[in-house]
Amino acid sequence: MGLLKKVDHVTYAVAKGMIEKWTWFHVEVEGGTLINRIDDVRPDDPDSSMKIWCIDYGDFGVALVEGIDRNKVSQVTRFVEKHGDHACQHVAYDCHSLEKFQDHLKKFSARPRGETLVRNDGFGILKQMFAKGYSEGDAAEASFPEYVERPRGKALEEVNITFSKQAGKGFYQQIEDARESGDTEPFIDFSKMPAGWQVPEAKPKGQ
Ligand SMILES: [Fe+2]
Repeated sequence: MGLLKKVDHVTYAVAKGMIEKWTWFHVEVEGGTLINRIDDVRPDDPDSSMKIWCIDYGDFGVALVEGIDRNKVSQVTRFVEKHGDHACQHVAYDCHSLEKFQDHLKKFSARPRGETLVRNDGFGILKQMFAKGYSEGDAAEASFPEYVERPRGKALEEVNITFSKQAGKGFYQQIEDARESGDTEPFIDFSKMPAGWQVPEAKPKGQ
């Protein structure tokens, strides 16, 4: 059995003032449905915040994040300055079992960004783990993977959390913490890759 099941959602960072236009694109051009709109994830934060709007396609979602700069430039604005408008900040992969996948990652000394969170991410309740960036450096500027597990039929009321305003706080805070502590480590340590590792022979699907 594989470890990852499917793409859960893709999160794009958009330039200032562009979230409406990109929502038009994802809704009218691509046929998605806007299912959640949070215009300020951190209303009490004097430094910075972001908008997060969630578009559902049935089998997967797209989240749009747009930076809100106050006393400081938000991490989303920094990401866009580095990568351009509508750049992919993270892809979230749905795992068969998040815990099993996390145990597996330990064998490779792969580095999570922070603790597993249980919350509503704007699409619904889930368990999620953000990883450190694919590239070394400023945590705000690197793209990264997220690994999730949705409840899939388990009673939601068993998961005791409050709704929607929580969305976005998870990775925003974890990246802020990383920047404050000067953590520039990447997710994957390639020194764990055996020197003689051979690329497996390509096996076309269905054969
Ligand atoms: Fe996400």
